[in-house]
Amino acid sequence: MNFKRTLVTAALPYANGPLHIGHIAGCYLPADIYVRYLRSKGEDVIFICGSDEHGVPITIRAQKEGTTPKAIVDKYHEILKNAFKGLNISFDIYSRTTSPVHYQTAQDFFRTLYNKNVFIEKETEQFYDPEANQFLADRYIIGTCPKCGFDKAYGDQCEKCGTSLSPEELINPKSALTNATPIKKKTKNWYLPLDKLQSKIANFIEQHKHWKPNVYGQCKSWLESSGGLQARAMTRDLNWGVPVPPEIPDSKGKVMYVWFDAPIGYISATKELLPDKWQLYWKSPETKLVHFIGKDNIVFHCIIFPAMLMEHGEYVLPYDVPANEFLNLEGDKISTSRNWAVWVDEYLVDFPQKADVLRYVLCATMPETKDNDFTWKEFQTRNNSELADILGNFLNRVIVLINKFYDGKIPNAGTFSKQDMLLINAISEAPQKIAEKIEVYKFRDALFELMQLARLGNKYLADNEPWKKIKSDPELVNTVMNLSAQIAANLAILSEPFMPDTSQKIFKALQLQPLKWANAGSIHLLNAGHIIQKESLILFEKIEDKVIEKQLEKLHQKKSEQQQQNPLISKFPLKTEINIEDFDKCDIRVGTVITAEKVQGTDKLMKLEVDLGFEKRTIVSGVAHCLSPDDLINKQVIVLANLKPRKIRGIESKGMILYAENVEGKLVPVSPHNSMPNGSVVK
Ligand code: 2FM
Ligand code: ZN
Repeated sequence: MNFKRTLVTAALPYANGPLHIGHIAGCYLPADIYVRYLRSKGEDVIFICGSDEHGVPITIRAQKEGTTPKAIVDKYHEILKNAFKGLNISFDIYSRTTSPVHYQTAQDFFRTLYNKNVFIEKETEQFYDPEANQFLADRYIIGTCPKCGFDKAYGDQCEKCGTSLSPEELINPKSALTNATPIKKKTKNWYLPLDKLQSKIANFIEQHKHWKPNVYGQCKSWLESSGGLQARAMTRDLNWGVPVPPEIPDSKGKVMYVWFDAPIGYISATKELLPDKWQLYWKSPETKLVHFIGKDNIVFHCIIFPAMLMEHGEYVLPYDVPANEFLNLEGDKISTSRNWAVWVDEYLVDFPQKADVLRYVLCATMPETKDNDFTWKEFQTRNNSELADILGNFLNRVIVLINKFYDGKIPNAGTFSKQDMLLINAISEAPQKIAEKIEVYKFRDALFELMQLARLGNKYLADNEPWKKIKSDPELVNTVMNLSAQIAANLAILSEPFMPDTSQKIFKALQLQPLKWANAGSIHLLNAGHIIQKESLILFEKIEDKVIEKQLEKLHQKKSEQQQQNPLISKFPLKTEINIEDFDKCDIRVGTVITAEKVQGTDKLMKLEVDLGFEKRTIVSGVAHCLSPDDLINKQVIVLANLKPRKIRGIESKGMILYAENVEGKLVPVSPHNSMPNGSVVK
């Protein structure tokens, strides 16, 4: 395909929380490297992003913080924008989906689909708050979880036990707005008939077999899921979002589904950036549209948005969607709610002037084909043994030696030895090797190739020992230092997409105007006689153990603070780890309660007789405050059968029955899922 220009988008982050390293490694850093590389090649490319400012979580956050959704998105838009800036993510525009241009663009888009009769209108019954007079998103309905009994479960999920729910399943559902009992009310919404578009979409996916296997594979499984694609509602009964165009009948009180308006945000932001030229990027088959995203966004960018674009008819479709997998942190999933994350804004405060170190480490550990792990130890090692010892060390040696031997003037190269010729060849091949990897989104390999050039430079100096031979073989040293300086200039060009600050520092040290990709590979970037900077060049300082320990401490401390706030964890802190041998010591059996009676004179104790199949036992349980004998008689229970017998109120209790307890102290017996013979082993 012959493309004339590239339109690169990076997923619009939700403006309801800060950025963490997982976002950067998953989406923004690969996109930025790709774009910087294309710019360096002189290609026509624009890089689009902005804040995604709609969606129910934003309204909930506002409600929790006692403020408005607008105040929330205003706050986080600034935080996000500054974090990107601090990491040198070089968007051509960082817009937002509450901008007037976006409202108009999204409404025009909706209108076009509506007028083309693309949507299906469907009437369904939705929960409605009769006091607030508004429909309730699932998140706005709170009730008791049918699975764990937690009384503040949401209509889409119980945050205590993690079960995903529908509002219908909640016991005693209430509106989060007014505490009123919601009623069901009919409402009309507009659906994108993905079911009818299935074959068109399948065809589109088939034309994109070049997508990364994780992306292509996920699309195939969506298409092949039982029943195929389903129609999806593109509107909601909410008051936060882009309003459905008012001239459409029954549109009052309806806004667009956040995943309908957000990707249109890419178009709106382009319009804002290039009011006169945006159509060139969006409406020409010569545009290569590339969406960088994290893997949780695949279906929206590969199926739903393309379906919207196809039905609209005027826009280019994505050519590539290079989604990454997820980055974990210290062996555990990054989680905002558990505060298990490295936040970019905090990193930039703790490590000023070290944006490139994070960029380097995140690129080297990028989760390109599978989830990957970030550890602070690795961060330190990569900084100290790679950036400082290889790249930084090479460049500093070049600057220092040229100043020492030649008063800062690049010497003339003499005749080239066989080793020189091999080196020259490696220099000339480096740009292509790196480019080939970047073009197929293999950023880790590309970075490795860059570092290979620095390694080669170090080896060249070590093999030739100019510091020893400057007197005995000045000719040779002239050549060695000339070629080493040429490597330095090449590194300045080739490192730019990965580490833009570092690249700038190298150019400055070499007193060179920034050069472009096409110049790389040459050994004539610095003329003999050209004068470089006098001062030595310390690109990367070593990071000490105590700095890393501090970060680890901070991470664990924040997590435990978060846990303190979690009533489940503060009431039941996790016990210390045991090994399987410890567990194997427990003999756990299924039994049936035959008799149960309250122990006279106590509030809590109940005396039970339990049939374990091989014998009958008396067991005393402290459950009478929660359960009556009838709750237990004839029920199967789980018994810890080899617990040492002990006397409780004069009764010998032989074993222990297992109960689940919630934060309020309510107890329920644990029983096998299906009836099992008494005495069956639990393991
Ligand atoms: O997952 C997210 O963070 C979404 N806000 C991404 C939206 S991408 C696009 F479609 F705008
Ligand atoms: Zn639950």
